[in-house]
Amino acid sequence: MQPRRKFIKTLAGLAAASTARSFAAPEPVLRPPEKPTGFPTMWVGAVTATGGVVKTKIPPGLHPRLLVREAGGEPIIFTAEPQRDPASTVVTFHLEHLRPQTDYLCTLEVNGAPAVFPPAMVRTFSPEGQPANFTFAFGSCARTGSQHAVFNTIASKRPAVLIHLGDLHYVNISRNEPRHFRAAWDTVLSSTTQGALYRNVPLAYIYDDHDFGPNDSDNRNPGRPASRTVYREYMPHYPLPAGDGDAAIHQAFTVARVRFILTDLRSERDAGKTPDGPGKSMMGAAQKEWFKRELLEASRSHGLVVWGSSVPWIGTKSNDSWQDYMDERRELCNFIAQHRIKNLCILCGDAHMLAADDGSHSDYSDSQKLRIPVLHGSAFDQGGSTKGGPFSEGTYLPKSNEGLFGWVEVEDDGQRVAVRFTGRNQNDEVKVDLNFVAA
Ligand SMILES: [Fe+2]
Repeated sequence: MQPRRKFIKTLAGLAAASTARSFAAPEPVLRPPEKPTGFPTMWVGAVTATGGVVKTKIPPGLHPRLLVREAGGEPIIFTAEPQRDPASTVVTFHLEHLRPQTDYLCTLEVNGAPAVFPPAMVRTFSPEGQPANFTFAFGSCARTGSQHAVFNTIASKRPAVLIHLGDLHYVNISRNEPRHFRAAWDTVLSSTTQGALYRNVPLAYIYDDHDFGPNDSDNRNPGRPASRTVYREYMPHYPLPAGDGDAAIHQAFTVARVRFILTDLRSERDAGKTPDGPGKSMMGAAQKEWFKRELLEASRSHGLVVWGSSVPWIGTKSNDSWQDYMDERRELCNFIAQHRIKNLCILCGDAHMLAADDGSHSDYSDSQKLRIPVLHGSAFDQGGSTKGGPFSEGTYLPKSNEGLFGWVEVEDDGQRVAVRFTGRNQNDEVKVDLNFVAA
């Protein structure tokens, strides 16, 4: 992959157009209230070119249906998947046989009458394997139930998908009690700004430490079974190679010719304080095998591979990130080098900062020939923190009450994929910028 600082005209034009369209009157920064002021409505994820998943919460004993329609079209009616856990009130609708790149309005009906919930919107992806231009947003870390305006900004830009790299909340649950994890989810979904975002933009989310378990949590977290099980209940996810129930949540999905790989870097990780060595793992053996296979296949069959890592990749100082798993990081880099994978970039969470590296500092292989762009797009709503580095394009920390996110514009001519990353705040002001091309 050749990093390119030169301005990409077409992408710049895209950015300017989207700015003019969506942000004539940006919302003011709101101070997060003590408690979110809404209630869980519907939320959307696991979207593909022909389907998706819509979830909601309904008291038991009622009969919900989802009416899904294109503008001016007749509704397609979907009934809810049978609820497996009687203690859960989450209801799941699997949408299928939809048309690519089409907006579908989803309204809820309960016992034959319209529900009071505002409708959800599903915009299906471009067809898999065909070149297409699209945008996506990413980031991590928001105060529990945050109602920050940054979520409105992201929603108004209509990305194809929002990649959430963890710390969806900071409840730090270490007890193996599903009700605690459910309550945390309900608080997040009761945020008026986050609720509206997740109702209108597909969410693809993996947890990090504070939402998987307590601070700096790992595979010893006593709450691990409840955490991983409730993730499956609440989060509309892509197929999970580790299976149902109490298992890791790594997954992958495709938009056009771009493959997204999301790893679970918490629930299988060995303790960070374990001395580094070839046996120490952040992924666990099974996930790592899957990851390597996925990486190799995706790099050959897709124009660009985007890996979502919930923790920083670049750095040398111990801080609960890849720096504490240096042998495994080197192993992955050697794998990438050995198989000549050149169309990979990495999105990172955890550090509350915007940052970008053009690949100058991200290679830990023995060959020292890799150039893997690394992007940070955090925090949605948290005080600033610097982790790792250095970064070729520098870092930006949020000012007081500033909300940040990563914005990625993908332009694919069928031969090569041009990527423009911008790290932005809630007023859509660009703070960090990097262009590169995946050949
Ligand atoms: Fe965080």
